[in-house]
Amino acid sequence: MLKYLYALLLCFLYLSDIKAQNYHKEFSSPEKHLRVKFFMKEGKARYAVEYDGKKMIDEGSLGFILNQKDSLLDFESVKTNLIVHEGIWNTVWGQTSTVNDNYTELRAELISRKKKLLLKIRFRAYDDGFAFRYEIPTQKGLSKPTVTSEESRFTLNGNYSCWWSWADYNTLEKNYYHTSIDSAVHVATPFTLQRDDGVCMSIHEAAIIDYSTMTLRQDTSDSHRYKVNLVPWADGSLVKTNGHLISPWRAFIIGHSPAALIESNLILNLNEPNVLKDVSWIRPMTYSGIWWEMHLGLSTWKQGPKHGANTKNAKRYIDFASANGIKAILMEGWNTGWENWGQKDAFDFVTPCPDLDLKEVVRYARAKGVEIIGHHETGGDTESYEKHLKEAFKIYHDLGIRVVKTGYAGSVTPAGEYHHGQCMVRHYNKVMRMAAEYHIMLDVHEPIVLSGLSRTYPNLMTAEGVRGMEWNAWSQGNPPSHTCTLPFTRGLAGPMDYTAGIFDIDLSAHAKERVKWNGPDSGTTAVHSTLVNQLALMIILYSPLQMAADLPENYTGHPAFNCIKSLPTTWDESKVLDAKIGEYIIMARRSGTTWYIAGITNESGRELNLSLDFLKQQLPFKGTLYADGKDAHYELNPESYTINQVSLTSDTFNIKLAPGGGFVLKLEK
Ligand code: NOJ
Ligand code: CA
Repeated sequence: MLKYLYALLLCFLYLSDIKAQNYHKEFSSPEKHLRVKFFMKEGKARYAVEYDGKKMIDEGSLGFILNQKDSLLDFESVKTNLIVHEGIWNTVWGQTSTVNDNYTELRAELISRKKKLLLKIRFRAYDDGFAFRYEIPTQKGLSKPTVTSEESRFTLNGNYSCWWSWADYNTLEKNYYHTSIDSAVHVATPFTLQRDDGVCMSIHEAAIIDYSTMTLRQDTSDSHRYKVNLVPWADGSLVKTNGHLISPWRAFIIGHSPAALIESNLILNLNEPNVLKDVSWIRPMTYSGIWWEMHLGLSTWKQGPKHGANTKNAKRYIDFASANGIKAILMEGWNTGWENWGQKDAFDFVTPCPDLDLKEVVRYARAKGVEIIGHHETGGDTESYEKHLKEAFKIYHDLGIRVVKTGYAGSVTPAGEYHHGQCMVRHYNKVMRMAAEYHIMLDVHEPIVLSGLSRTYPNLMTAEGVRGMEWNAWSQGNPPSHTCTLPFTRGLAGPMDYTAGIFDIDLSAHAKERVKWNGPDSGTTAVHSTLVNQLALMIILYSPLQMAADLPENYTGHPAFNCIKSLPTTWDESKVLDAKIGEYIIMARRSGTTWYIAGITNESGRELNLSLDFLKQQLPFKGTLYADGKDAHYELNPESYTINQVSLTSDTFNIKLAPGGGFVLKLEK
């Protein structure tokens, strides 16, 4: 049972109501690392942020243009109060079992000069970041406003290099670029930067509930100045309201190292506490399934001689899962409709293919102690999905299926809507709420970017929204630096269903049988990592549903598979031991008294001398080390590995990673 332990809540330190022209208020985070200045400049609302005495945001501006004409940019008065919050809450699942939630919040109420409209802004200073959120209450003179422009802008102080992907209103499955700030012209978030002095920052949003998602657009005359850009509706509006508007939090995670970005819980903390009373049905787990074989072109989603999700094959996966400690299997292509992909109402979400006896498969799985993960591919047809949603969830619920993967691969209906606009935000959140009613956990593919909502709805387990493993099956694939960038970019938004764990790396074994179905490849693709890197990814790229994606025959009898068999997918503690964004990352995660230390590197091999001083008091440990073979190389010899029993008696540890390689050290008492 989730418990919220709010230790202390001190409110209303003071209240002030001052003519906007003169207003100026500074406040700090609880341990004073972050300092925020909120002030008015000629009636315009502004803010500035310092981190440990260093200017981070020189001058940010705030406000809206509504209904093409009503401006919330010029204010005549301001009223504020300051709140100090100290708390700690327990996660249902996550990278840590508890989260500290300490902040100072300034609540401002501004009255516009012309139409006397009320705009509320909440600013929060945490020791690991800064955030603000707008609220426009229902009020006279403003009926059901539509946002014409969110006028949030900020100017970053200093010289930065940054990691970013191009803003795209329809997909988050992108490569990342590492450039100076000048090239980051229009970017998706999380947008991650590191300044010359080492300070790191990642800009994202939290709690996207009934609003469009944002991208960041650089000012044409100042490469350090960005404006919040909102993904529009088909009719050009940015955000529609019923009178009352609450924006997501505009969030800036800030720390002295790349590690600090990952160890921050800012995005979760900016979301409301869990609203689900009973969470006993929510279980993180490893899973396998009828999936990679379709991406490789060895079987098909659609009915026919090569249909993958048939009774016999499903039972094969269930047997494999049951024998190997894998908790669940996914069955893609279980239902009819794949033959009509791209057409309106292609899927009905309820009819199994004739060669799949769904009830029997569910019975068989239950008898073997394995969960079935259901699948709803919508092809982007949300109108059709919403029509069937209740019935589709009810069928799964009645069968005892508790996890559903959804997918939105294709153009969206209603026609003209973007994947990342408010229309789709409403859809995804509706699905999340309804899934909770039916006690269903979700894994959302082609999602809205995560924004920490799983604190409030912990049945929103994981999401794709990343250029994941599948791209290695049918495209040029993902370079090793990609997965060394993801923890510091996409991973900061929330869990990632990257679907790693591929052991058959060069993919040539079945080259002749493979049917080309997507992308430029017809059987010559490869995964660009070593085998041990694949193990490490399952620890480093956090997801409470963690897929062991390869085919059962590639795992069965493989000594390295032991690493996956007992792998936890929720952790009591997580730390970054060492990292350089895009180059390498070493993490330590604890479940009970067992520690997993895992690392990955980019195209360059490296030797690291790690300090494990946090383990000093607990030594000695016995351990298993999964490492790259001496001659391992992600292109030349990817499947070379070693497994050794080790005993850890000192708090330092040396490890060698092959180019595109990795390691996992499992330490037990
Ligand atoms: C794209 C998803 O990311 C992938 O996991 C899924 O197999 C296909 N769509 C088919 O639904
Ligand atoms: Ca996808």
